[in-house]
Amino acid sequence: MQATAQAQPNVALIKYWGKLDPARNLPATGSLSVTLDALWTRTRVAFDPTLTTDRFSLNGREDADGLGRVSQCLDRLRRLADVPQYAVVESCNNFPTGAGLASSASGFAALVAAAAHALGLALDPPALSRLARRSSGSAARSVFGGFVLLPAAVSPEDDVPAEPLLDEHAWPLEVVVAVTAQTSKTIGSTEGMRRTADTSAFYEAWVSSNGPDLSEARGAVMSRDFEALTSVSERSCLKMHGLMLSADPGLVYWNGATVECIHRIRELRRRGTGVFFTLDAGPQVKAVCLPGSTEEVSRALADTPGVMDVMVSRLGRGVHLAETP
Ligand code: PMV
Repeated sequence: MQATAQAQPNVALIKYWGKLDPARNLPATGSLSVTLDALWTRTRVAFDPTLTTDRFSLNGREDADGLGRVSQCLDRLRRLADVPQYAVVESCNNFPTGAGLASSASGFAALVAAAAHALGLALDPPALSRLARRSSGSAARSVFGGFVLLPAAVSPEDDVPAEPLLDEHAWPLEVVVAVTAQTSKTIGSTEGMRRTADTSAFYEAWVSSNGPDLSEARGAVMSRDFEALTSVSERSCLKMHGLMLSADPGLVYWNGATVECIHRIRELRRRGTGVFFTLDAGPQVKAVCLPGSTEEVSRALADTPGVMDVMVSRLGRGVHLAETP
């Protein structure tokens, strides 16, 4: 009745921002991501008939704030397995939590895989991906490695899973993460998406222009066309942040160093370096690099005022079971 799983965060190149059905967490926009290798979440789940409630710790500390979402996720698995027991969940991240580094993606992918195994449920990757999506849309993608697509749901019955496009070895891009803040974000993605859909004059245009961006990005990935992937990825990212800024009150996830990094990356590209940027609901900058460019990009970002730390990662695999420590 116990298992440990490891999952890695993913970085969306085409962004999911908006829910077709908030209750079932169905994405209104399709997204395409790369799963990382160097950053990870490891989660141990142990069901125990003597417990009277679930218990959750993150990096060795009881986490009362995170417990609700963890329990809701476990409830879905308990119902499937018809097992009423509570569980101890111990999770560990080797990177900052809740600051736009997709800790919910790796966190829920690892939780679902560990809990399913502990309960003896034989779920295939699409089933794990659907369950992970119920807790965090981006977590659906961390079930798979390499390049991953999560389509938009077309109706409230469309219980979409993510699907793998290319594995992590097929096109070995690398990602440099520039950490520009170590605090947790103020407005979480669920609240941010709700506010944007309710108040932005641009929301419908955002949703309707996502399909063409997604097919363009998919084509660029399948043909390993870095230039094409650069232009569609930066467009999707800046369009999402433009949309966020246009909410009421506007959502500003950037800080000064975020902007400095964007300029630095574009300057490197003008000089011929294979790199583009992307940003999520937080101030960290992710630079996607052709393998030969990674060192130069990493040095340039480390040298940018306001950057606290730089992490470099290859592309990695999907969620997998790990040794219980
Ligand atoms: O699924 P969530 O709640 O982690 O939201 C993800 C939102 C973005 O990171 C901004 C975009 C994305 O597709 O990952």
